[in-house]
Amino acid sequence: MTMINAILSEPLQEITYRNAGQLEETRYEQMHVEVFSNAEMGSISVAREISNTIKTKQRIGEMCVLGLATGSSPIGIYKELVQMHKEEGLSFLNVITFNLDEYYPMQKASTHSYHYFMYEYLFDHIDIKPENIHIPSGVVPMEQVNDYCLSYEKEIEKAGGLDFQLLGIGRTGHIGFNEPGSHQKSFTRMVTLDYLTKSDAAGDFHGIDNVPVRAITMGVRTIMQAKRIVLIAWGIKKAEIVKAAIEGEITAEVTASYLQSHDNTTFILDEDAGSKLTRFQTPWLVGKINWNHAMRDKAIVWLSNKVNKPILKLTNRDYNNNGMSDLIVLEGSAYDVNIKMHNRLQHSITGWPGGKPNSDDRKRPERTEPAKKRIIIFSPHPDDDVISMGGTFLRLVEQGHDVHVVYQTSGSNAVSDHDALKFIAFTKHLSETKLPRIEELISEINEKQSGAMDSPEIRKIKGLIRRLEAVGGARYCGLADSHIHFLDLPFYETGRVKKNALGEKDYRLTREIIEKIKPHQIYAAGDLSDPNGTHKVCLKAITTTLECIKDKPFMKDCWVWLYRGAWHEWPVNEIEMAVPLSPDEVMKKRKAIFFHETQKDGVMYQGNDTREFWQRVQDRNAETASAYNKLGLTEYEAIEAFRRYHF
Ligand code: F6R
Repeated sequence: MTMINAILSEPLQEITYRNAGQLEETRYEQMHVEVFSNAEMGSISVAREISNTIKTKQRIGEMCVLGLATGSSPIGIYKELVQMHKEEGLSFLNVITFNLDEYYPMQKASTHSYHYFMYEYLFDHIDIKPENIHIPSGVVPMEQVNDYCLSYEKEIEKAGGLDFQLLGIGRTGHIGFNEPGSHQKSFTRMVTLDYLTKSDAAGDFHGIDNVPVRAITMGVRTIMQAKRIVLIAWGIKKAEIVKAAIEGEITAEVTASYLQSHDNTTFILDEDAGSKLTRFQTPWLVGKINWNHAMRDKAIVWLSNKVNKPILKLTNRDYNNNGMSDLIVLEGSAYDVNIKMHNRLQHSITGWPGGKPNSDDRKRPERTEPAKKRIIIFSPHPDDDVISMGGTFLRLVEQGHDVHVVYQTSGSNAVSDHDALKFIAFTKHLSETKLPRIEELISEINEKQSGAMDSPEIRKIKGLIRRLEAVGGARYCGLADSHIHFLDLPFYETGRVKKNALGEKDYRLTREIIEKIKPHQIYAAGDLSDPNGTHKVCLKAITTTLECIKDKPFMKDCWVWLYRGAWHEWPVNEIEMAVPLSPDEVMKKRKAIFFHETQKDGVMYQGNDTREFWQRVQDRNAETASAYNKLGLTEYEAIEAFRRYHF
């Protein structure tokens, strides 16, 4: 049975389904928005709508014209459609498709092409007629591009226009590849990609320099002529731009905002992508609230920042003027609620992340007993441990705990050819070198086509390089080699950016290390923002394993703390353990990060932030410290932050 059938009998966990601005809550929204608890539920709902559209057309004997998108967002929808075809006989014989865009220049057969993508995820698995598939060509000679684009428009018109257009949204706010500045009346044409769009695609292309500069895309007007439009967005990375498109002005700077003037458009979001909408970000501004602890904490931190006062100086008037008068009624007075919140934050701060011996721990984030704890620090890649919690790592070792670090994946993908070559050449110059095929390995890298896959041997060497760097960093933090473990989880070892699903061996390796160490504390990377990211998969390997072994006796003493990777930090109101670092500790942490030499300057997965990892994290830890300070708490140099995970 398909997932869709399994849940059809139950109402979807849909949070809202109402028209733009009709209710108090949605009054800032200029479009119809639906928010689902996760991307999977959202994808199922869109797949269901597409299938209904196809079937309705079948019943009246008409062709159904779909406009399709590529990228990470629609993958779940295509998966559902394929399943519906295979298991429920959904037929695509009456379907004509037009894809939004293609890189230029781009060969169809390239694994980077949107052509390849569409066949891999959809067309190879359904009964659509090949002649009904249209994807812009990345190989039309430059001088023919204009005519070609016109003919693409004509084909859409000839098919009767788009019945349904699926869209993603780029972080520039683009729909299709209509980057900022695109005109509302633009048609299919050749465009130049924005820097941010290229940096988002850099991972797939093994570096930003390999991302094509141009693309052919349907225009804004082409898209707006569709009878129905559904835009999907998942993950925190999209939250800012989604808010701008839905609540901001219609502007060429955010081309998705043009959709506000289309009268049959819906934005389908997961909770993270919708989290910056006013009704979720500051719900007290748009309606009545059922106050709970989490909401109260969020509102007070927001208020303190808004009026630029430490928590203990907030007055009844501040609360009343900012939509929070009912909180004051509930709590008694600003004085009472301020003290409660100030103490809550104060109690999250500890210099003893493993618990403070011989102390009353009722108001501390960690237990006193056992004084010496067995601890696992899980690190998705061989550097997240020191980047994200290097200061806490150093403290845990110094405070006498039995600390183990477990590197979950080899991280070989992020080692450049240049670094690999350096290490192989180094090995070559050592007289005792026994590495086989050394000359071939050197030529393999020297002759490698941009974006081509590495041989397993090169991957192994790249993994080894990261392993040696990680050992250096962990030894510097005070660990003996017996306490440094490498799982090399197989899901990661595809040689491509796209990874495999977690398998039996990934779970077995994770389970074995936990059962061997029987930890009192586990630290793990809790970045949930990137739907395809390795961190999220690594977290799933841990949480699923913990669910399976939660009844083992040692597990009742096991607490799990989540840190965040190099990209985001927990919002202050969500932090449950804040570990302050002194200026000396910040320096030590920086040195520990420096052991990861291949991840310095111009790393392969840098994103659009040009700062190196140590700089990002140093800034971030200082920002957390300053955020605490602004709320009226002691001023520290830096703070590392954690949230407890309950299973
Ligand atoms: C893809 C396309 C783009 C993407 C957008 C989001 O055909 O035209 O507009 O929809 O860049 O990409 P993902 O889903 O990878 O974040």
